[in-house]
Amino acid sequence: MMNPGPARRALRTATAFVVAGTSLAVLAGATAADPPPPASSVVTSPNGALSLTVSVDDDGRLGYSVTREGTVLVEPSALGLDLADGSTLGGDVEVTGTRTTARDTTWRPVWGADAVVRDHHRELTVQLRQADGRFFNVIVRAYDDGVAFRYHVPRQPGLRSLEIVDEATEFALAGDPAAWWHPRDFDTDEKTWRSSASSAMGAVNTPVTFRYGTGTHLSIHEADLDDYAAMTVVPASGRLRAALVPTPGRTAAVVTGTGRATPWRALTVTPDAGGLIESHLLENLNPPCAICEDDTRWIEPVKYVGIWWLIQHRRATWKTGRLHGATTERAKRYIDFAAAHDIRGLLAEGWNRGWEDEWSDQDFTTATPDFDLPGVVAYGKSKGVEFIAHNETGSGVDNYERQIDAAFALYERLGIRYLKTGYVGEIPGHHHFDQRMVNHYRLVLEKAAEHRINVICHECVHGTGETRTYPNALAREAVRGQEWEAFSAGNSPEHTLILPFTRNLSGPMDYTPGIMNILWDPQKAGRRVHTTLAKQLAYFVTYSSGAQMAADLPEHYADSPGLRFIEDVPARWDETKVLSAEVGDSLVVARRAGTDWYVGAMTGDRARTLRYPLSFLGKGTWVAESYSDAPETDYTENPTAVEVTKSMVTREKTITAVLVRSGGQAIRFRPATPADLQ
Ligand code: NOJ
Ligand code: CA
Repeated sequence: MMNPGPARRALRTATAFVVAGTSLAVLAGATAADPPPPASSVVTSPNGALSLTVSVDDDGRLGYSVTREGTVLVEPSALGLDLADGSTLGGDVEVTGTRTTARDTTWRPVWGADAVVRDHHRELTVQLRQADGRFFNVIVRAYDDGVAFRYHVPRQPGLRSLEIVDEATEFALAGDPAAWWHPRDFDTDEKTWRSSASSAMGAVNTPVTFRYGTGTHLSIHEADLDDYAAMTVVPASGRLRAALVPTPGRTAAVVTGTGRATPWRALTVTPDAGGLIESHLLENLNPPCAICEDDTRWIEPVKYVGIWWLIQHRRATWKTGRLHGATTERAKRYIDFAAAHDIRGLLAEGWNRGWEDEWSDQDFTTATPDFDLPGVVAYGKSKGVEFIAHNETGSGVDNYERQIDAAFALYERLGIRYLKTGYVGEIPGHHHFDQRMVNHYRLVLEKAAEHRINVICHECVHGTGETRTYPNALAREAVRGQEWEAFSAGNSPEHTLILPFTRNLSGPMDYTPGIMNILWDPQKAGRRVHTTLAKQLAYFVTYSSGAQMAADLPEHYADSPGLRFIEDVPARWDETKVLSAEVGDSLVVARRAGTDWYVGAMTGDRARTLRYPLSFLGKGTWVAESYSDAPETDYTENPTAVEVTKSMVTREKTITAVLVRSGGQAIRFRPATPADLQ
């Protein structure tokens, strides 16, 4: 290790400075002509509440810490990248300079939780030189709803490529906050979410969410994941550390060029649980839309039905034969149902050749003999229902990449604008979330955009806010979704109340809500859906997605009182407000679409009476069409009982929602018409 020398030691004893707006308040004692770069730099959020300090300790180790209103949330934690040559960028550094910028703009997503998003932050770049002469930067941002940082490694002699074994990045959370987490797995996000003290938490996938004793919530995730391995978080020596998903058989998790930045390590920090849901931090950390130069009308959120729940319950098959699900006849019948109920998409799984044996060798351009692809697409168009094609790769990723150009060109020619992809099974030589696969999912989005196709991706890596850049990424699974209710012991009430505060923060979620026949168990296998009917309706509002499935069978909707709400609830929103929230326990969300407001309320494992004022409504009288757990609703015995009421309300009113265990309420508010008022 190089001797730091007097100059560097002086740097390390320098006082911290604070970045305020675009100007730097330079530390006391420095001359205006030649201010020595400080060893510790702070960036504060525009509202002054959040601060992130980057510092270099006496041994030259790079680190950071985070405070909120003076209270430490993240204690001094290491920063750095462990490289394949055995060195660590960040291990023996000095600060050579700093640069700050500030930004306050708004942007309009093609679709999303809010029609207008504010991007208001301060950014600090700390320029660093290693004792071995290599140099890199840490870029730090502070927003009112969180902080984030990334490494930027410029091109330089002696460092032409970056082989990153792992990140040295730590998250030394202060105290022992409560934690909600998904066990670490390099291939799936489809496990049950859990809660514990953070000290009892194991290795996890992200997002991972914490609540401090003060009520402050913090969620760790990543943003702008591109040509890199996904991040997991592991406990190490009493603190948490970032750990990259490895590529099997390769030392480095990431092999990439220099002259680039790594994904953001993002800490969403809000005074309450609802703030996490309202945050746009992850989207703000992604680049602007890359596919919006011309017409974006083809990018359109969708409500859809599917030849799917039947297959999940093994009443029909993906493969051809007597029980084949995706027949022309059934597709047309489902299209008729969708068209009659304002549902604009039909998914059919098993429409193509290749489901007979291994799923990894499918043919994505040839339909089965009993499925008339052009005919079904055209029939749908004639009724205003888009056909959603399905590509189950069975993790045969090379097979898929060989066909992708031809398949997407065919779909575009036929007018297919929506596609669900899937990656069931093991990927030979890879993990679902390793660098190669992260690149693959991005490639699919790019190719799809070239052919004006919207994508719903199952079994792919978690979202990282890239819907800003690729709004055709309408939804992804990355969750133990409702399908598990059909083929396993199912999803606990707590699981479904953890999702909005964890998984759904990373982006739109294809949970596939809308099951009305809660206790349907055609195989007599002891399966059920672990909610009431009203909670299924609430999901359309509480869960955020660009693609919301009405997942049940047409025959189960036929006489269900919930169908009307599913018809009415839009797929696209203009504004989102969280009215009440407790992680894992209860949630009330209001969303506006045009003039109408919709509210979804739901509970986890315990019955709750939730009160929320209607102050979000505009002036005047509103008609409230409400679907709630009824007095006789019971999670175990009578989950489908639902009380449907219509009443007149104003913004002065407070709603008292009496919800049973795993219960719900869904309300549409529309401005009263003269006819209503009579
Ligand atoms: C798993 C997906 O999550 C599910 O929705 C799909 O039906 C099956 N794979 C078959 O592709
Ligand atoms: Ca799945």
